[in-house]
Amino acid sequence: MKRNNGINLVDYFDQESPYATEFRRLLHNINGADPGQEKKTILVTSAMLAEGKSTIVSFLAMTAARQKRRKTLLVDCDLRRPTLHYLFGVPRENGVVEALMGGKRAKDVIKKTSEPHLDIITAGKSVLKPTEVFDSGAIHKLLEEVRFYYDLILVDCAPILPVSDPMLLAPDMDGVILVVKAGATQREVAKRASLLLKNNKTRFLGVVLNNLSNILPYYYSDSYYGYEYKPRPEK
Ligand SMILES: Nc1ncnc2c1ncn2[C@@H]1O[C@H](COP(=O)(O)OP(=O)(O)O)[C@@H](O)[C@H]1O
Ligand SMILES: [Mg+2]
Repeated sequence: MKRNNGINLVDYFDQESPYATEFRRLLHNINGADPGQEKKTILVTSAMLAEGKSTIVSFLAMTAARQKRRKTLLVDCDLRRPTLHYLFGVPRENGVVEALMGGKRAKDVIKKTSEPHLDIITAGKSVLKPTEVFDSGAIHKLLEEVRFYYDLILVDCAPILPVSDPMLLAPDMDGVILVVKAGATQREVAKRASLLLKNNKTRFLGVVLNNLSNILPYYYSDSYYGYEYKPRPEK
């Protein structure tokens, strides 16, 4: 369904598809990593641009909301190239920037999506110096406020090598995931990004390989899953 303002990914989320299984698995792995430690706020970053951060974080959020019935919040902290407003067909304005710079309360910037358990905070109006928005520590306050209302808070952000925003956000998160575009990102580049995340202030949970189908077509093809493939009934 085309909306006035972008598309709406919710309409494209097919929970019976093979990729939906992968997102359930990913959620399960996130919960399983580092057992005993609460993982309510998760940051999704990548080494470079266009590796699939916004796509992965959005499908992960829809999986948690629809299949696990977890109250989920998506936050667009990629103030340089925000896309979550476009992907969920909501206005960009009145989001993270207005909350962190304009003193708005979380409840005034949270928007509903067409997925019942999924809410979103969009990036907000554009700013000249995005790093300054996160420099102030106000993001910590915002996350503390929303933490109370949600089971899972997924944060999209800029890539880690070209800009420093993700490193400012990372210490405030319960976990950080690195998306790597398979067959595209050079090994050394991915390695440098993961080394940046392996520090004593960041809980680095692991790497998500995106675009695997382009290098492993057989594994992801319909014939591999076959007609007998059926998703497990949800409890
Ligand atoms: N697994 C995938 N298969 C096909 N297209 C993808 C996949 N992941 C991302 N894309 C596309 O690649 C582009 C960049 O993805 P996006 O999620 O916006 O990256 P990022 O947020 O890291 O910049 C988008 O057009 C998106 O639709
Ligand atoms: Mg993005």
